[in-house]
Amino acid sequence: MHKITIIKSYFELGSKAADCVEKTLLLPKSSIIFPTGSTPISMYKELVKRKLNWSNTTTYNLDEYMHLKNPEKSYFYYMHKNLFNHTNISSNKTNFLDYKTFSKTKNYGFCADLCILGIGRNGHIAFNEPGGSFDSETRIVELSKQTRKDNSRFFKSIQDVPLKAVTMGLKPIMSSKKIVLLAKGKSKKEILEKAIFEEITEKIPASILQKHDNLKIYYCD
Ligand code: PGA
Repeated sequence: MHKITIIKSYFELGSKAADCVEKTLLLPKSSIIFPTGSTPISMYKELVKRKLNWSNTTTYNLDEYMHLKNPEKSYFYYMHKNLFNHTNISSNKTNFLDYKTFSKTKNYGFCADLCILGIGRNGHIAFNEPGGSFDSETRIVELSKQTRKDNSRFFKSIQDVPLKAVTMGLKPIMSSKKIVLLAKGKSKKEILEKAIFEEITEKIPASILQKHDNLKIYYCD
């Protein structure tokens, strides 16, 4: 059975996750899947501070909005602003689910060495919303009302939140050799506990993580 490790502070949450990334960067060749959103910000800050060598790794992002009006809201922009612009990674080693190139990158068909995840209040991981198949591959999805509402804090209004996104499927996510799930805030606690300790069900996509044998879960209030 998995356990949720309670972390004292948000800074420490980022530091724990950064430790896992740092260890992976030391491999002769590695691949890492990264999330966006507010939770991983302290991890990115810590990674930038550590001035690590990124030349042996290839990165992938979990998801990307479609039909964005403002490119500064893209996860491409987010990753460059929060991480890539401050590291020695070369741009041909960073992969995004741009919907224009989506068909080419569709099923990455790889087992990443590490996948860092957040969790949505409805139990989504990446943009795999409740009810989707556990066998899902990378694909275009419609965002749920809850997700659009939750993410409207990053936009002027909910109308500006895209209706669709491209997301890595649960299958490629689960094929990662190691998964680290990060959750911050009391609003995530209930769904996190449900996902990890209760029934494994497609109604709560994150519950599939119970089937992973190399999973770490870090939570802070
Ligand atoms: P958050 O998003 O870190 O912004 O709360 C997590 C998620 O929705 O996966």
